[in-house]
Amino acid sequence: MHNGNLEKVFDEIIGGKQYGTLNSCTIEIPGPFCLTIFGASGDLAQRKIIPALYRLNTIRLFPQDFAVLGTGRTEMTQSAFRELMKDAVKAAFPDDFDRDSWREFSARLYYVRLDYEKSESFRRLREKITSLEKSHTTEGNRIFYLAVPPSVYEPVISNIGLAGLSREEKGYTHIVIEKPFGRDIGSARSLNAILRKSFSERQIYRMDHYLAKETVQNILMFRFANSIFEPLWNRRYIDHIQITVAETLGVEHRAGYYEKAGVLRDMFQNHIFQLLALTAMEPPSIFEAERVRDEKVKVFRSVRPFPLKGIDDVVVIGQYGEGKIGKERVVGYREEPGVMSHSETPTFAALKVFIDNWRWNGVPFYLRSGKRLTKKKAEISVHFKPAPHLMFARALEEDIEPNTLALRLQPDEGISLHFQAKTPGSRICMSPVLMDFSYKKVFSLNDYERVLLDCMQGDQMLFVRSDGAEETWALLSPLIEKLESDIYPKDFPNYEAGSSGPDAAALLPRKDGRSWRAM
Ligand code: BG6
Repeated sequence: MHNGNLEKVFDEIIGGKQYGTLNSCTIEIPGPFCLTIFGASGDLAQRKIIPALYRLNTIRLFPQDFAVLGTGRTEMTQSAFRELMKDAVKAAFPDDFDRDSWREFSARLYYVRLDYEKSESFRRLREKITSLEKSHTTEGNRIFYLAVPPSVYEPVISNIGLAGLSREEKGYTHIVIEKPFGRDIGSARSLNAILRKSFSERQIYRMDHYLAKETVQNILMFRFANSIFEPLWNRRYIDHIQITVAETLGVEHRAGYYEKAGVLRDMFQNHIFQLLALTAMEPPSIFEAERVRDEKVKVFRSVRPFPLKGIDDVVVIGQYGEGKIGKERVVGYREEPGVMSHSETPTFAALKVFIDNWRWNGVPFYLRSGKRLTKKKAEISVHFKPAPHLMFARALEEDIEPNTLALRLQPDEGISLHFQAKTPGSRICMSPVLMDFSYKKVFSLNDYERVLLDCMQGDQMLFVRSDGAEETWALLSPLIEKLESDIYPKDFPNYEAGSSGPDAAALLPRKDGRSWRAM
């Protein structure tokens, strides 16, 4: 069993609710539910959703009564679907697939073929859900998970509504939507409008899997549960902040989607802007979904719009050419399967962002992300101002490096503080030393497990609200439009796979007398 150092999960009923523990943390076990997955034979369902559901059930964080209904356009019998999902779970847990757990889980797994465009199909879906609700006593709690391509979001959402399935009769009805949430401000607004026709905001769970990473959630704990850093967390003491999300992976088999998206839609509009918001937001009065989401939206509203003249001062884009990742030779983006040979899709971007408010006035945030870079690394680094008066300046031969605080989000999760210390000897000699905290690799919930549980418990903290999605698109859409126009010169490919990105990216902070932290 893949239970790592899982503590004994206990079943305790407090105030009618059931709880279990995981690494000394108490987790509420959700009530019964019927979860319908649209696109159940697709990649996302097989790699993420089904393995997460299987594991939650295996570690007993699921209730006794639940049903999972897979739907898709593919004709498939129920037993063929169960076999396909079994292979997916085995692939996700190659070393600890457990036959008994699978038997228990798969007995609650069903499949119906669905035509997303046809309302009769959804009437049949309604009948199936109603019968599962009876046979599994799921108390009318329904979750709809859209794991389909964005091109069918609209018919699926509308048909759920038309079939009367979005109404909350006995229990709750929630809908989970994966990114991309639109491809610009116009499409994001119209997707929100379509959702609002059938669902209220309280029922909508816009997923950003970065928000569910333990280390990302820890940004708020670190900032607001400790008193020593928050007084320094502003323009008086901070020189600048860097956010890096670097990947070694290339586009893999996702060219169909990525060619139309590019790195700014794929990583910045969602994950990186969420990291920016968590780093820059004001403390909410209470740790509650709406208050936290209010504060994040205030950050987005304060981001200075990107100047469309002199764009090179605030943005650099790139696309990877062939190169080496470790010892392996890899092809360039344009040679990847499904990518056009003259593709101008950016796989790297670096941005300089200012937040025009009292706390951050004048403090640049340098953001960068790209595929096929030298390392997989997600990190937020806070670069403090130098000491105001360097009394050692005459005695020292070198400049003293200012303090840096790094929040390492993945891999090697942890927090480090770089500061100066005297090195032994009679001369005045200093060197930067490191105070380091590393998260132990403990057994915990992964991002998909976390969001599924939260959705079942009705906690929207880790999901994006409609105004948050629209504000980030409003900021990025004009910039993306400009970069995609013919007048913006692209000299792609402009960085080698396995490097730290295009040379021009180094200029972004260098023009301000700063430099990127090593990847
Ligand atoms: C996804 C992007 O949202 O995040 C992918 O679509 C990217 O392109 C992935 O690879 C990165 O996520 P993680 O969790 O591996 O950092």
